[in-house]
Amino acid sequence: METMVLSSKQIKEAASLIKKGELVAFPTETVYGLGANALNPEAVKKIFIAKGRPSDNPLIVHICSKEQLNLIAKIPKSKEELLSNLIKNFWPGPLTLILKRRAIIPNEVTAGLDTVAIRMPKNKIALKLIKFSEAPIAAPSANISGKPSGTKFSHVFQDFNGRIAGIIKGGKTSIGLESTVIDLTSPTPYLLRPGAVTFEELSKIIPKLKLMKSKVKKFKSPGMKYKHYSPNAKVILFEDNKKIKDYKNKYEKQGKRVFVLDEDNLINLSRNLFDIFRECDKNKIDYILVSSISEKGIGLALKDRIKRASYRVIT
Ligand code: TXA
Ligand code: MG
Repeated sequence: METMVLSSKQIKEAASLIKKGELVAFPTETVYGLGANALNPEAVKKIFIAKGRPSDNPLIVHICSKEQLNLIAKIPKSKEELLSNLIKNFWPGPLTLILKRRAIIPNEVTAGLDTVAIRMPKNKIALKLIKFSEAPIAAPSANISGKPSGTKFSHVFQDFNGRIAGIIKGGKTSIGLESTVIDLTSPTPYLLRPGAVTFEELSKIIPKLKLMKSKVKKFKSPGMKYKHYSPNAKVILFEDNKKIKDYKNKYEKQGKRVFVLDEDNLINLSRNLFDIFRECDKNKIDYILVSSISEKGIGLALKDRIKRASYRVIT
């Protein structure tokens, strides 16, 4: 298949591909998404094939208006106020909400669950694409399943050229990590995946919010049970930075190529993490040694992604 590379001025062309049931990759403020019309099951199936994604891992539906929210989700009276507070504070933006779904959303999107993940992205290209497509867009991160998410056009082109109908060429994504996911369907709201909307910020609006323990998480959020974000290099996360030097020496003596990732600015590191992973692969790095990460603010999300990419954590 020939992949059309579209500029940010060709969003109508991109939308016409979506309307025809084709896949289009597009930038969001978090990572690039691999989009299909969320109301067209045949189109949605193509996402799983293109990514090599297990079909039991549900997708996030991206919307551009409150009307679309009501079209796809059932909102109980008891949750209305909370929901409107969340929307006022964080939408459009990097926050995904799990709600009860309506029948209009096909099983292919939700992997048969009775809930649906919904996000209104902030990126202007993404919002226009949804608007011009006249339908909500189901989109996972644009990467081959298990690999680091795409945060630059070149990443997406590398993974999907020849496999999808179109890619909108935007810039590097501003946040670099996938959205925060919270489940509003259980009596206690749970944070399923940390992201740029932080636990601290959310707790101000949802004081009852709980962090999901990883064992339960695997069950609640199907995507969490898969190994993710992994470069070819073995990632080792250090809780104790004093040990990095010894490991570096040991591996280098074995003739291995070692890259030490030691960045204090967590916002920068979040923005660059997946690109660094991909660059390490290009440079045939064997080991990526990552210095300790604080769990405050975006640190929680960053540490989650690094841990899930990692082969060992050294305490
Ligand atoms: O920032 C993002 O969220 C990006 C951009 C493109 O919006 N998308 C993204 O999608 O990261 P994906 O498919 O890579 O991750 C979606 C996560 C998975 O862990 C999935 O299991 C979970 O959301 N999820 C989706 N629907 C769910 C549901 N109904 N219940 C629980 N978890 C759900
Ligand atoms: Mg993903």
